[in-house]
Amino acid sequence: MKNILVTGGAGFIGSNFVRYMIQKYESYHLIVFDKLTYAGNLDNLRDVFDHPRFAFVRGDICDAQAVEDVIRQYNVDTIVNFAAETHVDRSIMNPGAFVHTDVIGTYTLLEAARAFGLERYHQVSTDEVYGHVEGERRARESDPVAPRSPYSASKAGADLLVNAYFVTYGVPVTITRGANNVGPYQHLEKVVPLFTTNALQDRPLPVYGDGRQKRDYHYVLDHCEAIDLVLHKGRVGEVYNVGTGQEIENLQMVEIILDELGKPRSLIQHVEDRAGHDRRYAMDISKIRALGWEPRHTPEEAIRKTVRWYVENEWWWRKVRDAEFEAYYRAQYGRRRVLAPDEVAGLSPREESAEA
Ligand code: NAD
Ligand code: DAU
Repeated sequence: MKNILVTGGAGFIGSNFVRYMIQKYESYHLIVFDKLTYAGNLDNLRDVFDHPRFAFVRGDICDAQAVEDVIRQYNVDTIVNFAAETHVDRSIMNPGAFVHTDVIGTYTLLEAARAFGLERYHQVSTDEVYGHVEGERRARESDPVAPRSPYSASKAGADLLVNAYFVTYGVPVTITRGANNVGPYQHLEKVVPLFTTNALQDRPLPVYGDGRQKRDYHYVLDHCEAIDLVLHKGRVGEVYNVGTGQEIENLQMVEIILDELGKPRSLIQHVEDRAGHDRRYAMDISKIRALGWEPRHTPEEAIRKTVRWYVENEWWWRKVRDAEFEAYYRAQYGRRRVLAPDEVAGLSPREESAEA
């Protein structure tokens, strides 16, 4: 492994992965291939941009010719695919973009991996492909996928294609399924950066429904270490879950943010829920543990560290929180009804029994 094509490397996790890999491996070349959608941001890469082992190419993973050209030009031997449309709320507003990039884009990259006989194709997937996980159970890699949003359905479709290319054509693939990442350079549409920057501006924090949904918030560099390990020690054809293995309620996440910032609970505003909102994600991480990986942060540590990064990096988030973002914010949140306290109190039992 020498020349790694990092598709979607100008986004949140991809840019952290590039920084991590370039520092760790002295002989590796990292080539970022990114369309620079609204989520792509060259500021995320500014400290590696002039590195002699770094290159940036603007391009679309759905464009087969552009993918072939970059593979040839940089003698690429490995693809790590982060490129995707990634925000669940946007997938509810505009599902077509998700099917196109997340499914067709993955297919295009797999075809290139097959044609060029690459050493490895790694797919960065998500715990959302398992859908809502009941009770105390934890999703295992052998579980069937059961996605429930256009985003997770597109990601699950991509995972199935990746597996098909392994079984049918022998393409050496691996898949990691990550939980909710938090950390530096995450776009403000995602909950922790959104709530942190709202709270910093004394704006309300729009909590969906009763806020008792459970998520496994884990630190982005822990995720990058896991991908690195799977690239070097993972078995081809296999899927690995990556997270802390501990989930917390969204309201706990909100309280951690407010406490870290010294802001009042009165900023919490319960609003109409996300359509089809998965109540609980929870993964069993014993398979990647057996490879020799451990998360270094608990969800609380990961959230606190992330909040501090946003406090210290206002230069970064002020640029992201631009007029286009505020227009998105109005479209996404302007139509959501604020819930009365008795409506919030009535939500938990009814929703939980509906899921059962
Ligand atoms: P992000 O939205 O921050 O970044 C996505 C990047 O992909 C952007 O730079 C964007 O410009 C690029 N991109 C989008 N469409 C493209 C296309 N057609 N061609 C080339 N580039 C394109 O996303 P993220 O949060 O960093 O997520 C990265 C990957 O990890 C995604 O595949 C996502 O599904 C997966 N994932 C994310 C999380 C999470 O919590 N953020 C958890 C598990 C898995
Ligand atoms: O679980 C992994 C997934 O995590 C990734 O695959 C996705 O790419 C990533 O976007 C993320 O998806 P979520 O939908 O879980 O993340 P989001 O930050 O949008 O929401 C986290 C939780 O917070 C979720 O239960 C919805 C809730 N939420 C979110 C927003 C944006 C709110 O209550 N209010 C909000 O305004």
